[in-house]
Amino acid sequence: MSDLRFDGKVAVVTGAGHGLGRAHALLLAERGAAVVVNDLGGALDGSGASAGPAAEVVELITKNGGSAVANADNVATPEGADAIVQAAIDAFGRVDVVVNNAGILRDKSFGKMSVEEFDSVLAVHVRGSYLVSRAAFPHMKEQAYGRIVNTSSPAGLFGNFGQANYSTAKMGLVGLTKTIGIEGARANIKANAIAPIAWTRMTEALLPAEFEAKFTVEAISPLVAFLAHESCESTGEVFSVGGGRVARVFVAEGPGWRTDDLTMESIRDNWPTIMTEQPYLQPTTLGQQASASMKAML
Ligand code: NAI
Repeated sequence: MSDLRFDGKVAVVTGAGHGLGRAHALLLAERGAAVVVNDLGGALDGSGASAGPAAEVVELITKNGGSAVANADNVATPEGADAIVQAAIDAFGRVDVVVNNAGILRDKSFGKMSVEEFDSVLAVHVRGSYLVSRAAFPHMKEQAYGRIVNTSSPAGLFGNFGQANYSTAKMGLVGLTKTIGIEGARANIKANAIAPIAWTRMTEALLPAEFEAKFTVEAISPLVAFLAHESCESTGEVFSVGGGRVARVFVAEGPGWRTDDLTMESIRDNWPTIMTEQPYLQPTTLGQQASASMKAML
């Protein structure tokens, strides 16, 4: 089987000045994509800005014979997001792939987290992914082709101490991904999300030292690039990825328990049945979930 290539395709990768985004941009460029390397160039908590990191990645891609332009706009503002997509149109005439990867951390235990710490993290992850996808969507619709890869996190899917803001944002991206997947279907626009684990400046203080060698950023990018490729037929899915392992993560609903006389006490008495997982349903739309509730009445 032939290698998967992106010749003639244009990709936007946000937050591509460091870590995962940088590795995604390098791989996409190596496989022939023209890449907009976006990065605000700030610190881990989102403070500050610098055009340096994006420019350095572009320099590396160009040196390797690839095609890329740098962009240092902020994903979290409509003007910034529009400018990022416009950079792709101006430099390369189209946009086929959006990898929403930009992110910041402002960890604090729930009781101590300020409203500003909560809002600013949602702004970059959720609003940023929404805004950049929103800017690219009309172009993708017009050409009846597009691939969007969002960056969720195990912290969002499963929760994590000290990350109420971050985990809310990362689970929010699952909803965004699923709905873009549904709405994009007719125009061959596919949206999927990854929940990665890799050694970067974001995780080096949190992960055990032995993860550094095995949980590399290069072990995440092949999945991102595959989800960004035209041969990927899945949409609305979430994949956990790290250290060479890729697994589908899905939202499932247990078989449940139903009565015509639901009371607090009947819920208490049937709690073990309500908590049963098997055989689970795995609705891929709200309609499928609703029809399961309908069926239980028959
Ligand atoms: P990183 O800090 O190396 O990369 C994030 C990049 O986003 C930085 O280069 C930063 O300058 C950029 N950025 C931040 N705010 C921006 C904004 N408003 N506009 C444009 N660029 C902005 O961290 P890492 O680990 O590479 O993270 C990449 C993504 O992966 C993030 O969304 C993160 O939440 C997610 N993630 C990472 C995990 C890991 O194990 N490293 C685990 C789960 C999720």
